[in-house]
Formats: sequence, C-alpha cells, structure tokens
Amino acid sequence: MTAPIPDAAETTATTAAATTASAATAAATTATTAAATTAAPASSPTHRRGVFEVGERVQLTDPKGRLHTVTLEPGREFHTHRGFLRHDDLIGAPDGSVVTNTAQVDYLALRPLLSDYVMSMPRGAAVIYPKDSGQIVQMADIFPGATVVEAGVGSGALSMSLLRAIGEQGRLLSFERREDFAEIAKGNGRAFFGADHPAWTVTVGDLVQTLPDVVAPGSVDRVVLDMLAPWECLEAVGEALIAGGVLICYVATTTQLSRVAEEIRAQGGWTEPAAWESIVRGWHLEGLAVRPQHRMHGHTGFLITTRRLAPGVAAPTRTRRPAKGAYPDAGADTNTGADTNTDTRAEDPSGARPAADPVPGSTASMDIPDEAWTPEAVGEHPKSDKTIRRIRRSVVGTSDGS
Ligand SMILES: C[S@@+](CC[C@H](N)C(=O)[O-])C[C@H]1O[C@@H](n2cnc3c(N)ncnc32)[C@H](O)[C@@H]1O
Repeated sequence: MTAPIPDAAETTATTAAATTASAATAAATTATTAAATTAAPASSPTHRRGVFEVGERVQLTDPKGRLHTVTLEPGREFHTHRGFLRHDDLIGAPDGSVVTNTAQVDYLALRPLLSDYVMSMPRGAAVIYPKDSGQIVQMADIFPGATVVEAGVGSGALSMSLLRAIGEQGRLLSFERREDFAEIAKGNGRAFFGADHPAWTVTVGDLVQTLPDVVAPGSVDRVVLDMLAPWECLEAVGEALIAGGVLICYVATTTQLSRVAEEIRAQGGWTEPAAWESIVRGWHLEGLAVRPQHRMHGHTGFLITTRRLAPGVAAPTRTRRPAKGAYPDAGADTNTGADTNTDTRAEDPSGARPAADPVPGSTASMDIPDEAWTPEAVGEHPKSDKTIRRIRRSVVGTSDGS
C-alpha cells in the first residue's frame, strides 16, 4: 500500500526529528556500514558466489588463452594432451583461482559470466549474442518486476538476460513451438542459475495460439520476439500488451525487418517503428600494437521497436513525407490481394499516411508469399534432428546430474 503524503508542516517536523535521530544514530550507522562493506556477499537462489561447488560450470583458461569449460564432479578429471586436472582440486577453491595439472600446466579458473556462458552453452537454435541481448534489455526498457513475454525461446540465451533484468519478482513468460528446444533452454537456464528460475515459465506451443490462454489482455509490460515471422504475432501481442508497453523484434535479414515495419504500420495502434543494428569491434591491446582486432562478427541481426497505443487510438499522422519511390505509385499496385488500393498519399498533400490505414501500394517484402519465408530462405542453417537429440540429452543430463 502507498504511504499517505504528509503536508508541508508535518514534513518539516518529521525532517527535524529525523535529523536529530540520524545524528544520534550516525555512529551506529557508520559501524554497521563498515561491517557491511567487509562482509562477502552470499549466494542467492539465482546467483552463485563464493567457492566452486559440485555441479557448477567452471571456465578454465590455459597459458595460450584457450578456454575450456568443465562441470564439476567429485573424482572426475579434465584431460588434455599435457596432463590432467582433478575436479577435486577445483571443488571448494575460490572463484579466480589458479590450479596446476599433473604436467605443471597452470589454469586460471573462473565462474563464467552470463556472456561467457551463453557463448559456450549447448545450442538447439541460434542464440542472440550478448551484444544484442544488452541492447534488448536497455532499449525495450526491461525493468525489475516487469511481466515480459518472449518467443521463441530457442536455446534460452536471451531468456537468461531477461530473467537477470526482471529479477525474482518479475515474470518471464516464454513460448516455444518446439518441445525439444524448450527442454534445451530450460536445461541451460537450470545449469546457469543453479535451479529453475522462480520467475520463468516456458509454454510449449505457437505464440499466437497459446498466448491468450496464458495472459489477460493488456497485462504484459514488454514483448520480445526472436523468430522467423514476427509479423504473424503482431495482433496477438498487441492484445496482450499494456498501453505504452514495448515490443522489440530481433530479425536476421532486411527483408524480415521491412515486413515487420510495414505490418506494424498497416495494423495501426502502434507508434512509428524504430530500427537499428549494433556493430561491436573488439580491440587488440599489446604494447604499441593497439588496434582493432582483425576478426569480428560482421553481422548478427537487426532490432526494431514500437510501443502499444491505448485501445482505439491511432498514431498521429506522420507529417514527414516518405522518400520519393519508398512506396510504389498508387496506379502501379503490385500487391496481390489489394484490389481496392487507396493510396492516401495521393489525397493528402503532405504525403502522410494515417497509421491505421492499409499500407498504400506494397513493398517487396510484403509481396512475398507466406510459404516462401523459410529458415533456409533467410539464411538459417537448422541442425539435424539427430544433433538436436544429442544436445538435448547432454543438457538434460548435465542439468539434472544424471
Ligand atoms: C532463433 S530461435 C530463438 C533463440 C533465442 N532467442 C536464444 O537467444 O536462444 C527462434 C525460435 O523461435 C521458435 N518459433 C518460431 N515461431 C514461433 C512461434 N510463432 N511461436 C513460438 N515459437 C516460435 C522456433 O522454434 C525457434 O526455436
């Protein structure tokens, strides 16, 4: 419940009393603060701290900078062509230790950061890289305690960043069409957090079909879509989102980006979409040789955001005229199915288009038939069923200790 706001006189009196009280307790507070700053923070149900424990993943860096990840088991050994390391030497050692193997090779042992973990964890589907997860958390304004819908789950990489941002008091409602991918994602999450995250629910099924059974209309703060055809879900997520809520989509190609943008405009009830990509270039730092690294991830994906308007509201008419040729001429309608094309730009001297109107003319991406949007067509390389079965076994085996 919200506390009543005191009036001005009351506030002054309260402040004066509080000042005296704080002077009297200042020494005690200082002592408490000093004690608090020296105590090591304890583990929480979703964040491990302190010494390495059985079942944890530990990242080992060898003298050449190569990374190896081990899951700690009593009595087990990590072998290389130069000797082996006993897991027992790591169990109970502090994070950030150096351990030496039987051939006197030193390894630096660290608990993986989330960004390390997602890059090395087993994958069913392609993951969203940390640089994009960071953008999503910030630009979709994912906040502690938020109710967030996510689809698809894939390998669960983005889910983990979303869970970190909403915390244990938030709710992450994730949807995934493929049962095997959902299992892999849950196993990855369990292995990282050390247990099932209390804020996470994974529903197996198509988002459009299952979302209305899981959430009430207008009850979701944020929606994140990472899938082949996010435009198919716009109506369903528009219904679920709270007024002012944010939708963010991650897509791999410009053709998908264009299709989402045009469908958002065509549907109305959304703000004008904004799109961008982020390019991160690592740097080589050695003596006087300080320069960009030679290799980089040249492309991951594009992000596009929009916000949900209040029910029945259409966005104000855009006053900026679309660039000449951005949309086909009214007379040159190539949109299959658009037999009564009403190009509002022809009537409106500003060239603006009311948000709720159908898209005037068409764009290349909207002309593409639904069946043409396949994973292979947008450049994905899906793994074979056999490989997915093996990954699923390894993840479920790793995470439940069997
Ligand atoms: C690229 S993966 C997601 C990866 C995930 N964001 C990660 O970081 O690990 C896309 C997933 O979306 C799922 N998918 C596609 N369309 C869907 C829909 N309409 N409803 C639910 N899941 C869907 C696919 O099965 C696939 O697993």
